[in-house]
Amino acid sequence: MIKFLDLHKVNQRFKADFEAELGRFLDGGQYILGDYVKSFETNFADYCGTKYCIGTANGLDALTLILKSYIHLGRLAPNDEVIVPANTFIATILSVLHAGLKPVLVEPDADTYNISSKAVKEAISNDTKAIIAVHLYGQLADMNALQALSKTHDLLLIEDAAQAHGALDSSGTIAGNLSDAAAFSFYPSKNLGALGDGGAVTTNDEDLMNVLRSIHNYGSEKKYENEIIGFNSRLDDIQALFLNFKLKKLDEDNAKRRSIALRYLDEITNKKVILPTYNRTKDHVFYVFMVRVEQRDDFRDYLLQNNIESHIHYPKPPHKQNALTMFNQLRLPITEKIHDTCVSIPMSPLMTNGEIDKVIQVINAY
Ligand SMILES: Cc1ncc(COP(=O)(O)O)c(C=O)c1O
Repeated sequence: MIKFLDLHKVNQRFKADFEAELGRFLDGGQYILGDYVKSFETNFADYCGTKYCIGTANGLDALTLILKSYIHLGRLAPNDEVIVPANTFIATILSVLHAGLKPVLVEPDADTYNISSKAVKEAISNDTKAIIAVHLYGQLADMNALQALSKTHDLLLIEDAAQAHGALDSSGTIAGNLSDAAAFSFYPSKNLGALGDGGAVTTNDEDLMNVLRSIHNYGSEKKYENEIIGFNSRLDDIQALFLNFKLKKLDEDNAKRRSIALRYLDEITNKKVILPTYNRTKDHVFYVFMVRVEQRDDFRDYLLQNNIESHIHYPKPPHKQNALTMFNQLRLPITEKIHDTCVSIPMSPLMTNGEIDKVIQVINAY
């Protein structure tokens, strides 16, 4: 079976380093907000080119805490509108609701599947105070246009970079450093995935960093002194320990993902399979290689019969979810079409040439 992602193999590479460090971790006796978290925060800020990085318990919290912190700073107020892509994982939209703000869902660009800057422009109202750009599947959103819109209309711009660790724009700026603040997820399947939940915020905004440092740790900087109504959302030291090893391999892994993507793009020639739009730069890290097929179930059954796993990112758009009844009446045809036809095919930095050959050959024979 060709796995969608051979996570066990991906993480095996760090087993010896991880086990060697575990003894020191156990003996050190500080398991929360210790030295491993401090060093990972420094390393990840350096990697992204930002002044600050603050670890959080997961990516959803990273997004929510950015918004909550901006409310605390008076930059956002309850019920302000936040423009979000309709075509995203539900976490982006949940973060806005959890912060007591109003998500405004807009359609993606039909080619890149990322939020359409034209649709964003049309959705800006007097109540709009922020935009969240998601770098979906690992491909940077149209950040130049979104930066220009946020500047013109004095809006906060936030990146949901949960799927895009290491994606670079044409000037060499990395995801996480293209906005006021960015949220990352280290969910195990991510390009930089931990051994459980984890997340982080990157930013150059010192005021935001100061509030985040406090709000993610019970609103407290000094033990048992609580200045803000805070949360318990911290990156665990054991996850930071592992991520420090994995971060060193991230660029190499992303390059491998891009090389597999190029083979898929150049060699999959079946007209029933719509391939993604990609400009062949480093602006995509292929967390997911998504194709679109009209007869999706039939295609996935066929892949499985040929021992190829696939996934759907995502089967039901957020605005159709029972949890989000307030959006159920929205008509978002581009988003709906994408969700009805998308299939993610195997993508892992450890795929062998034989496996890549087989995926291409089986898809072409469909
Ligand atoms: C686009 C996007 N945003 C946010 C999240 C939330 O991250 P987490 O699962 O770590 O809370 C995820 C990942 O699951 C995601 O893919």
